[in-house]
Amino acid sequence: MIPNQWYPILQTGDIKRDRPTGVRRMGEELVLWRDLGGTLVCQSARCPHKGANIAEGRLKGNTVECPYHGFRYNAEGTCKVVPALGANARIPQSLQLKTYPVREQHGLVWLWWGEAREQLPEIELPHELVGNPRPHETISWTRPVHYTRYIESLLEFYHVTFVHRDHWTNNIDYTFMYGTARNLWMDGRERYLAANKIVNHEVVVDGTTIRSTFDQCEEANPANSSHFNLIYQAPGLTHVKTGLLEITTWLTPIDDENTLAIMRLYEYPQLRTMVPIKPLRPWVLRASLLMEKLVQDPQDVGIMLRQEPKVSERGVNKFIAVDEMNAKFLQIRDRLKAEAEADAKAGAEAHTETHAETAPAAAPETPVTQTSTTPPATNGNGSGNGNGSKGAHGTRRKRTGAAADREDGLTKARS
Ligand code: FES
Ligand SMILES: [Fe+2]
Repeated sequence: MIPNQWYPILQTGDIKRDRPTGVRRMGEELVLWRDLGGTLVCQSARCPHKGANIAEGRLKGNTVECPYHGFRYNAEGTCKVVPALGANARIPQSLQLKTYPVREQHGLVWLWWGEAREQLPEIELPHELVGNPRPHETISWTRPVHYTRYIESLLEFYHVTFVHRDHWTNNIDYTFMYGTARNLWMDGRERYLAANKIVNHEVVVDGTTIRSTFDQCEEANPANSSHFNLIYQAPGLTHVKTGLLEITTWLTPIDDENTLAIMRLYEYPQLRTMVPIKPLRPWVLRASLLMEKLVQDPQDVGIMLRQEPKVSERGVNKFIAVDEMNAKFLQIRDRLKAEAEADAKAGAEAHTETHAETAPAAAPETPVTQTSTTPPATNGNGSGNGNGSKGAHGTRRKRTGAAADREDGLTKARS
């Protein structure tokens, strides 16, 4: 998992109004709830008292109540009520929930997973998505696969004619995307399965965003071709645009074995002619997303479940030239992880120095927050930009270049 990033962890509509919402993300059980003013709060769901899951508790005014012994925690994570000790109890400071920054943008709830900073970076989407006026629908699901394998499966489409070929709903893709009017769309399957060569392949890296364009065509009949635009943005956004199809998928780690997929399908202009009744159009999108969830995605996951190793990392694959986007993704992942590690180390050193200068010899600060699967320690320097595209670690960052490509077995030959 890549620290110091914003991760979408839910759709905004998934937050329950009248009780806490529990999810597992980034290897940790989390509880989300709204205070009386409607502000969303996200905290570790493990009650520091005896470890019960607070998401199974209740909302009590501006606090969330643990289901086990009724301890109540406020939006800052401080325990305000311990019923067993009575109204005037002195509550131990160690009864403190770790609280995570969250924001609501683009219909999603975003969790900042990383070091505490005075100022957090903005949540920025690629410009192609920000300016996209198309109506859209969103669906989500979870799968027992590692996010690296999931992301890499969405950063190439030459598996499509092999993995997505035989289910009856795949026929819809053949007909719509590859059938020709001259043949009454009956040639769709044949054309679809034949179009598996990648040409005109280009990849451009911009900070922690990768853009790729290519044509997927039939070698013997180059006219049978589809043009693709793909985007990856760290940590887990993928976007594809081809023909009528435009989809954004965010992949967020639930833990090291499971991944959340949030898929957003955009309305294509021709749908207005095909379905003139406006309220019906979202249902077409929802039906398409359901088909993705129930058919196409399980076809991909069927492959992923049997992949070895379970985690994709630099050095474990033998990439070919048209896997350049996959290779760049793994390079960026390594780079961001290394940067986060260096930042955490620098922060820890600065913290030690400060203490050596200012603290009395025998009085170390007592931490009151609990620890679990937590991201790197706070360094408090507030200097990061959240996507790692700029900063002071130039030497490490250069590894996304030619030398890193060589290590990953990529040749620069274009097909
Ligand atoms: S475990 Fe939460 S109040 Fe006891
Ligand atoms: Fe697929």
